[in-house]
Amino acid sequence: MQQIRVGMVGYKFMGKAHSHAYRDIPMFFPGVVQPVMQAICGRDADGVSQAAKQFGWQDYVTDWKELIGRDDIDLIDINAPSDMHKEIALAAAKAGKHLLCEKPLALTLQDSREMLAAAEAAGVKHMVGFNYRFAPAVQLARKLIQEGRLGQIYHFRGWFLQDWIIDPEFPLVWRLQKDIAGSGSHGDLGAHIIDLAHFLVGDIEEVIGMSETFIKERPLPGSMSGLSAKGNQSDEKGPVTVDDATLFLAKFANGALGSFEATRFAAGHRCTNSFEINGSKGSLKFDFERMNELQVYFTEDDEDVQGFRRVLATDPAHAYAEAWWPPGHTIGFEHTFIHETVELLQAIREDRQPVPNFADGVKCQQVLEAVDLSIAERRWVRTEEL
Ligand SMILES: NC(=O)c1ccc[n+]([C@@H]2O[C@H](COP(=O)([O-])OP(=O)(O)OC[C@H]3O[C@@H](n4cnc5c(N)ncnc54)[C@H](O)[C@@H]3O)[C@@H](O)[C@H]2O)c1
Repeated sequence: MQQIRVGMVGYKFMGKAHSHAYRDIPMFFPGVVQPVMQAICGRDADGVSQAAKQFGWQDYVTDWKELIGRDDIDLIDINAPSDMHKEIALAAAKAGKHLLCEKPLALTLQDSREMLAAAEAAGVKHMVGFNYRFAPAVQLARKLIQEGRLGQIYHFRGWFLQDWIIDPEFPLVWRLQKDIAGSGSHGDLGAHIIDLAHFLVGDIEEVIGMSETFIKERPLPGSMSGLSAKGNQSDEKGPVTVDDATLFLAKFANGALGSFEATRFAAGHRCTNSFEINGSKGSLKFDFERMNELQVYFTEDDEDVQGFRRVLATDPAHAYAEAWWPPGHTIGFEHTFIHETVELLQAIREDRQPVPNFADGVKCQQVLEAVDLSIAERRWVRTEEL
């Protein structure tokens, strides 16, 4: 069995999710190329050595350049904040390593294009971490649309709502700083729904948006990890330089109309990543907080029993479900990363690019920037302008 030796950068929220994926693959997907958890990287020696032990990595380093210089590593998995993606990916591609990079692919469209070009020039496999595609219910939605069972698609309505920074005293974490995060809810949450729209409906041609930063300054952070943080004990504050919420309208190339909403100020919504799609023959509804379910409605059902019905996407008929538990025994957030990694490992074995890859990351970045431009210039922007 072929093996892929992995080097990972970052060991907190996404570092843990990806590490967990590598650990579970031998147990649940023994047929794919097997990952070897070679070394993990973080800047703090104590923190990263603890993570290496806890997550099951053979070794740890404190400088990502060292990871890339090692010839016992085939794949670099980038889970550092977004400002680090480009530099690490370019160096790793140059060293001939395959790439898995978290989303958003880069801080700007130009940077993301450079990353794609570097990966293509190096002839390596490249994947971007749009993990929500890999929920079996989302795969089912795609299958129904591809098979024409929804007919012509008229509407995509996507919303990704969270509330973890609604307290004005929540500290100024890196996700609220433009130079590190690129943008706020737009690039963090919006990127996921844009990618789902691309995956399910197709290319976006034109957009117009609006955004707001509700809390303009926040206390400086002490420690932070993922979506949690503590203040630094002083009264000092710093400016929030990203959007708290961004909404936009879109026209798809196939004539469908879209609306998108990404916010971290929707009280009560912890991780409401949802979409509704309406076609000439039916509709679909998905809510990540109930990720094992897809709501479906078909106009061809007999009139007396028409209505939305709940399909549990845990039967063997659904993508990836067979590898898990008996029907109805549900799966969770972490499984989306396992499926994503299985796709990457299968692609390496089959000598093809995985999907979604850096080209999908670039396409998403193009929409993100088209929306930013439309907000700055208060007009509709065609994505091909960028
Ligand atoms: N796919 C998803 O659902 C999802 C969810 C959360 C975050 N993300 C993305 O994943 C990336 C990481 O986010 P996170 O939530 O894991 O952040 P985090 O703050 O929890 O962890 C970041 C990690 O990067 C490390 N790091 C920072 N700078 C470094 C450097 N110069 N060298 C080595 N290590 C460095 C930190 O030590 C930490 O371990 C971001 O791009 C984010 O947008 C994706």
